[in-house]
Amino acid sequence: MWRLWRGRNLQRRAPGPLAEVQNEWSVIAAPSAKDPSASDELVSFVLKASQFAQEAELATLRERQGNANRRPGQHYRVLAGLARAWDAHRIVEVGTFLGGSALALLDVPSVERLVTYDLVPWNELPKTMFRADDFGSRLEQRIRDLGDPRVFAEEVDELAQADMIFVDAPKDGEFEAKFLAALFAVEPKAPQLVVLDDIRVLTMIRVWRDIPHDKFDLTSFGNWSGTGVVTRNGFPAEPAP
Ligand SMILES: C[S@@+](CC[C@H](N)C(=O)[O-])C[C@H]1O[C@@H](n2cnc3c(N)ncnc32)[C@H](O)[C@@H]1O
Repeated sequence: MWRLWRGRNLQRRAPGPLAEVQNEWSVIAAPSAKDPSASDELVSFVLKASQFAQEAELATLRERQGNANRRPGQHYRVLAGLARAWDAHRIVEVGTFLGGSALALLDVPSVERLVTYDLVPWNELPKTMFRADDFGSRLEQRIRDLGDPRVFAEEVDELAQADMIFVDAPKDGEFEAKFLAALFAVEPKAPQLVVLDDIRVLTMIRVWRDIPHDKFDLTSFGNWSGTGVVTRNGFPAEPAP
């Protein structure tokens, strides 16, 4: 299943001109007159999150995979910084893979519950960073496709209750646009932070530009292929300590 997904996904993502590293074509584009500026609150929030990223220890992730902390270029520290600055309690992740991002987010003490969705069970991937005892009341994996409207409807309460959602799924030119349209039609129960991976890859350029909410491109602190931050329904009342 994983190989099939990866094969299909990479076909849609054109390799770039560098021989020595994973690289893809991207696009640079000016803001248009109709694009609002990010709010002052959002800019202050991402500055604080970036400071917290600097302080993130990611002890579990480091213990399980030594080089998962690289910056710039990987998003693990900034994910933890964002969760801490948002004072996230309930997180939904779309795209578990080897568990690196879930373990980074669980490093943040405020996080009480993280539900991570994938099409492939974690224990079918030989290089998984998870151990069976990582799962319990704080971490759950659901093997479900949120791109299916029937599944989305069944999971809608989990999504509405999440104060942070990390979307790192196929970037196949279809899923993310569909998922975000459905998500943005749901009223969150509290201020909601949506973090998107890969916003600079070709299949995500349009998706990112079309997001109608307060947003900020945090790529320089996040993943080499793009990290975008979107807020909905305001900001948490209490600043994180
Ligand atoms: C780039 S990986 C996630 C990496 C992980 N978030 C991290 O940073 O460590 C993308 C994952 O999305 C999963 N995926 C693909 N389509 C999906 C879908 N419709 N719903 C949930 N997960 C999906 C793939 O199986 C793959 O494990």
